[in-house]
Amino acid sequence: MRFFDDLSPQARNTPESAIVAVVNHARLREDVIPLWVGEGDQPTPSFIYDATIKSLRDGETFYTWQRGIPELRQALADYHGRHFGGTHDPETFYVTGSGMQAIKLSVEALCKAGDEMVYLSPTWPNIFAALEISGARAVPVTLDCTERGWTLDLEKLSAAIGPATRALFINTPSNPTGWTANREELQAILDLARQAGIWIVADEIYTRFYFDGHRAPSFLDIVSEDDRILFVNTFSKNWSMTGWRVGWIKAPPELGQVFENLIQYSTSGVAQFMQRGAVEALNQGDDYVEEQKGRAAHARDLLCDALMATNRVRLLKPQGAFYAFFSIDGLENSSEAAYRIVDEAAVGLAPGSGFGPGGESFLRACFLRRTDHVEAAADRLARFISSN
Ligand SMILES: Cc1ncc(COP(=O)(O)O)c(C=O)c1O
Repeated sequence: MRFFDDLSPQARNTPESAIVAVVNHARLREDVIPLWVGEGDQPTPSFIYDATIKSLRDGETFYTWQRGIPELRQALADYHGRHFGGTHDPETFYVTGSGMQAIKLSVEALCKAGDEMVYLSPTWPNIFAALEISGARAVPVTLDCTERGWTLDLEKLSAAIGPATRALFINTPSNPTGWTANREELQAILDLARQAGIWIVADEIYTRFYFDGHRAPSFLDIVSEDDRILFVNTFSKNWSMTGWRVGWIKAPPELGQVFENLIQYSTSGVAQFMQRGAVEALNQGDDYVEEQKGRAAHARDLLCDALMATNRVRLLKPQGAFYAFFSIDGLENSSEAAYRIVDEAAVGLAPGSGFGPGGESFLRACFLRRTDHVEAAADRLARFISSN
């Protein structure tokens, strides 16, 4: 380990993604129905990529605005006005190279080594990994899995805030649990942050995949201009653009130069031709998102009903996002279970052990897929569960 031992501790200690490890195990098997990764099965629609092709043909292949092209920042402001009400200043939006980069830049903006950020667990593993790579400490507050579904104990959240806490990372609707904060919970979280004088990083990327209304309750419904809050977001899920790697941050305009600098010294901006596609996604893509949400709702019922009918799983239908997060009686080790299920039942699932405390015995299935695939996966899983 001549070279490895000579790296920084953060680089050396970064764990392999538990999801990717299972994917790599069976990546080349064509019979596997892949529900392990957090994306749907649809390629990006043509109304989006046509704009990108045109941009490339027009020669838009040069360096561009660090913060994002003005047309995209305006489209983001309009999109927020349509779906969250009010008016939004284009100067509050910064285009990033993915939601992941939006998270990374938010962590860089807020935390120095030794600082703490509190997050709700189980959660998407990249969130706490991004914190730890930066030298900050990720402090979990576990959601409780109850008869009513996943719930947040606000007293536990309050107790986790200490002198080193810089921010609360709130992902709602949540990947992987589907837990979705209601307005009262958002208000209580905001009050906690206000009292403690700390930031909120709001990850509401699944807000349009909310099954009890047009969109999930949002911090945007209750924040004022004085609140310390950064919104991280992405084009990946709503518009089937996971491979594009384009996202955004919404933050107070006072931070414009800071985010411009952080973008400059990381990616130096998102390619202009991709931003042209992103403009079309926002301006023309409302119906497309509704269609995807309809597919997700149908698939959610199919998969969850089939799993619950086995009487051997712990699962409640998620309120938001597009994941079933369930445990199987008698199979407590989710990593072992995920390898066995892909080997024996040819269904790819993500092991909950990778999602932080509280997720150990659960498995995550992404159900945003065509009906016959979801039916086949549900059938294979039900047979596996019944015979184990
Ligand atoms: C909760 C959450 N936040 C952020 C992201 C980032 O998405 P991307 O990096 O594809 O833009 C994901 C992706 O799975 C996610 O689940």
